[in-house]
Amino acid sequence: MPGGYRFSLDPRSVYSVYWAIWYFPIIYKLRRNDSLSVKEIRTYWKHPFNGSNLPENYLEGKERSQFLVELLKRYADSSSVILEIGCNVGRNLNYLFLAGFKKLVGIEINKKAIRLLKQSYPELARYAKIYNKPVEEVITGFKNGAFDIVFTMAVLQHIHPDSEFIFSEIARVTNRFLVTIEDERGISWRHFPRNYKRVFESLGLEQVEEFNCRGVPGLGGNFSARVFKKV
Ligand SMILES: C[S@@+](CC[C@H](N)C(=O)[O-])C[C@H]1O[C@@H](n2cnc3c(N)ncnc32)[C@H](O)[C@@H]1O
Repeated sequence: MPGGYRFSLDPRSVYSVYWAIWYFPIIYKLRRNDSLSVKEIRTYWKHPFNGSNLPENYLEGKERSQFLVELLKRYADSSSVILEIGCNVGRNLNYLFLAGFKKLVGIEINKKAIRLLKQSYPELARYAKIYNKPVEEVITGFKNGAFDIVFTMAVLQHIHPDSEFIFSEIARVTNRFLVTIEDERGISWRHFPRNYKRVFESLGLEQVEEFNCRGVPGLGGNFSARVFKKV
């Protein structure tokens, strides 16, 4: 099946048995190649059941965070208010923090990722404002132009078609620049590829830079990095 899945819970843990029952309808649908609803996709991200998406694995990824910092340095300064949507354990935010950016905000659906953020990066946790909720529930509450820079890395690609209203919300809350670093080609039960130039230019933003991420470990040739200016 496209993208594949491996259900890898420890059957000795009561917690895992609970999730196995909770996940049964999702696994059943995946076996039949049926597509998942927005609620089911969000359930997956709240409690990912396969190795690569467990929060502890997002502590790794130095090269892609360094790539992000070098890119943002060209568009932001230390006074910029920066929002990351889908920050997981906060690795990207921490690299920005260490590079001198202090006005940081994150949104993340996964509770365990936020616990790990607080343990791994306590100083970042003290400075940054983190919302532990789905982006769909948070973004509508921000004022127009609340953030100088909004960025996403490998997150919009997982936004279900029924949640696409968030794209106009992202354009609304961006004051200066939006950066998307997304897989625009891969397809799986949890990948919804889109051309973000088309998406955000249709919402009034202007793309000022675009490049392929082939040379960046942890991203690769399916990923496009794009910078949009608010006009
Ligand atoms: C592939 S990971 C990327 C994490 C991080 N941006 C990075 O580059 O290391 C996708 C992230 O988006 C989060 N996510 C997925 N859907 C979300 C939603 N609806 N609201 C908030 N976060 C979401 C996931 O929990 C996960 O942390």
